[in-house]
Amino acid sequence: RSIRLADYRPPMFLIPRTALHFELYEDFTLVHATLGLVRNPASDERGPLRLAGEGLELRELLIDGEAPVASRWRCDAEGLELDDPPEAFELCTTVRIDPRANTALEGLYLSRGMFCTQCEAEGFRRISYFLDRPDVMSVYSVTIDADRRRYPVLLSNGNRTSQRALDDGRHRVVWEDPFPKPSYLFALVAGDLACIEDRFRTRGGRDVALRIYVEEKDLAKGDHAMASLKHAMRWDEERYGREYDLDVFNIVAVDDFNMGAMENKGLNIFNTSCVLACPATTTDAGFQRVEAIVAHEYFHNWSGNRVTCRDWFQLSLKEGFTVFRDAEFSADLGSRDLKRIEDATLLRTAQFAEDAGPLAHPVRPDSYIEINNFYTLTVYEKGAEVVRMLHTLLGEEGFRAGSDLYFERHDGQAVTCDDFIAAMADANDTDLGTFKRWYGQAGTPELTVEDAWDKDSGAYTLTVRQQTPATPGQPGKAPLVIPLALGLLGDAGNLRLTLEGETPDGEQADNTHRVLVLEEPEQSFTFTGLPERPVPALLRGFSAPVRLSYPYRREQLRTLMTRDDDGFVRWDAGQQLMVAALGDVQAARAAGTTPALDPLLAEACAALLDPATPDPAVAAAMLALPGESTLVELAAHAGGADIDAIHDAREWLRAALGEALEDVLVRCVRRHPPAAAYAPVGEQIGPRSLRNTCLGYLATRGDTGLVLARAQLAEADNLTDRLAALRVLAQAGDATERETALEGFYAAWQHEALVVNHWLQLQATLDLPDAVERVTALMEHPAFDLGNPNKVRSLVGAFAGANLVHFHRADGAGYGLLGGVVEALNARNPQIAARLLTPLTKWRTVPVRVEAMRAELSRLAALPALSPDVYEVVSKSLESQ
Ligand code: ARG
Ligand code: ZN
Repeated sequence: RSIRLADYRPPMFLIPRTALHFELYEDFTLVHATLGLVRNPASDERGPLRLAGEGLELRELLIDGEAPVASRWRCDAEGLELDDPPEAFELCTTVRIDPRANTALEGLYLSRGMFCTQCEAEGFRRISYFLDRPDVMSVYSVTIDADRRRYPVLLSNGNRTSQRALDDGRHRVVWEDPFPKPSYLFALVAGDLACIEDRFRTRGGRDVALRIYVEEKDLAKGDHAMASLKHAMRWDEERYGREYDLDVFNIVAVDDFNMGAMENKGLNIFNTSCVLACPATTTDAGFQRVEAIVAHEYFHNWSGNRVTCRDWFQLSLKEGFTVFRDAEFSADLGSRDLKRIEDATLLRTAQFAEDAGPLAHPVRPDSYIEINNFYTLTVYEKGAEVVRMLHTLLGEEGFRAGSDLYFERHDGQAVTCDDFIAAMADANDTDLGTFKRWYGQAGTPELTVEDAWDKDSGAYTLTVRQQTPATPGQPGKAPLVIPLALGLLGDAGNLRLTLEGETPDGEQADNTHRVLVLEEPEQSFTFTGLPERPVPALLRGFSAPVRLSYPYRREQLRTLMTRDDDGFVRWDAGQQLMVAALGDVQAARAAGTTPALDPLLAEACAALLDPATPDPAVAAAMLALPGESTLVELAAHAGGADIDAIHDAREWLRAALGEALEDVLVRCVRRHPPAAAYAPVGEQIGPRSLRNTCLGYLATRGDTGLVLARAQLAEADNLTDRLAALRVLAQAGDATERETALEGFYAAWQHEALVVNHWLQLQATLDLPDAVERVTALMEHPAFDLGNPNKVRSLVGAFAGANLVHFHRADGAGYGLLGGVVEALNARNPQIAARLLTPLTKWRTVPVRVEAMRAELSRLAALPALSPDVYEVVSKSLESQ
């Protein structure tokens, strides 16, 4: 059953006040709810009132203190219906729920002996009967009773207002949240938790207690998150003028969690993998991820909580904006270029693939069957790119004015993406009507750029065509407003840019960087007064989420790679050079000839390894070969990917570069020895990542690589270096070396769940003939647990998403493996089951496997009792031709 944006109706009733009383017991929990309901003046709907409720056992029902006549109400698997409700009334319900049996991890559940909740998007209806929709905002008072010894810590949203002992060794805590909020932001935690504590004084002088609750054993792993939180709080004050608004800010780490983290008001709940960090159990990337996610959830306090979404079609209103905010935060605190490179890579591989696949949808979808399936790269990452384009078009000041107006105008409201755009437009006195198409149109726009040079007049003309391919349900597309940032490079560097008809700027003004605004299917721009034919540096900073094609010659790419001002352009030019070299290899293989290494590429890579290269982190990113997923996405767009050929070419190129550059690579490794004491700071992360990138190339050089890796594994004081070395030994060593190294690592780290996840993931992504069998065997390993989403993602998700040649094995064994896990999880945790399916939905990209992939999808489609989550993904994947 599909829900459509066009069917939105305001709620019939509002619930200004909600009082909840939880009696927590392990084998059942009672939830008493007292709701003050009033008819919504904005609704003219009449008839019975429906409250959502799932898996609830109703024990008591009172309307204004009295049990209603049996014929005037009814209850089914989806909720409670009341006939002719009074204009204003008090509804009391008591329900019994079973958190221990809750394996879907939505609503109230138990994770390692701790009660916790996940209510976004529609989990609250598994806790109590409610108008479980984001435009019903209520002030909550929450009373929690539980055994005092087993659950000494009882948390909910807002401020704690009382605490007392009860009989029978139980205790009671009351929490009051003064801010009206939708039910998806409700949270409750009960457990035996330790906490680290700190304080933050807001710019306005509020003293906020900051606490991070973890299991006692993890106490030492909370400091990084705490430091990140304080950075985020300061940054939001400085960059957005947003201050925190309660006296406490709590974070809780939970091991069994479907997503990364959740922004519940005053009580953020985090997957342990996104909050715990220490050098022995967290990689450099992991530290950066914790910082970014802590900030992301904190930023939601304004972009999401104070101003929330009217309905779930508007999800990107809070997610796209908040991802943009956290990206800018990371860029400000770390390396802006690297952050942009990472985000562009994610977009170009995974989001472009989503846009080109059967589940393509706009940033604001028109319809869905299961909202959990729409927490996608399109809504989050493309949504953030749409906000970034606004920032580019309006400028920092204009954007900030729009954001200020948005928060001021809509504080305490549940609003739409249109409201966000309207605030941006009004604050800048501009019209963003056409720009808004980005919210409604799915698919990745393609820009084709051609140029012409008139030597005599010094005029250089760029002609840009835009076109967006059809997506399911959207055959025709309108042109979009696209900011195209660019520069023009001449022999001596950036050229000054004067468009035809403009008067040239004075000598002082820096006009070497321009943003052209595209809005027509085809537009031409002529730059005048140029001394020479330039090399165009296009799409600087990845200024729009588009594919861009311009017929660069390799020498031009080399020029951009070394000489452009923009880090993204330099990196992207290098990647294009590598893609070209990979094309050479594939062509030679297809022709049955011996491939040769492009000397231009070898020279470019050698230059990156030179001691004079300024930024080792950027050098590492530029030396990394384009990922297989990126190459598959590119090839798929060009008509279909031959995964084996891509893999073969990539491995050939890695080995060829390893051979050609062996000495420089070894020297580079020696030049960047491990730091005396590990710290996850930029000055160390860059050199470490460069050294480990070199090690990856040297893994193709037999003993040279193995000797370095053995030493590194033995001496490392941190997970980043250990994992990099372990990967080399497991991939390039012989069977004995591989198994010894893997077993030794497990023996040393088996008590650290997050490290074991890395160990599973590493094995899932090894390129070994028995990769499928290894993953299957690991599913029986004591370290694996189908009930823990992190384990499932690390092993099965990583295999299907990142071990492409083996997932796509010709006999279909990879598909069978994935399908089996999806089947096993369909009832147990439908959200995770549906998410795991993503690689199988991309059948169109792999022409030679279409039948096998669709066969597995069809097998799943025919299973009895498919969850809506899995049904939606499977049926939409099969429907599209
Ligand atoms: N709002 C959370 C975040 O972006 C994610 C919650 C996802 N929940 C879900 N049911 N898919 O930080
Ligand atoms: Zn979010």
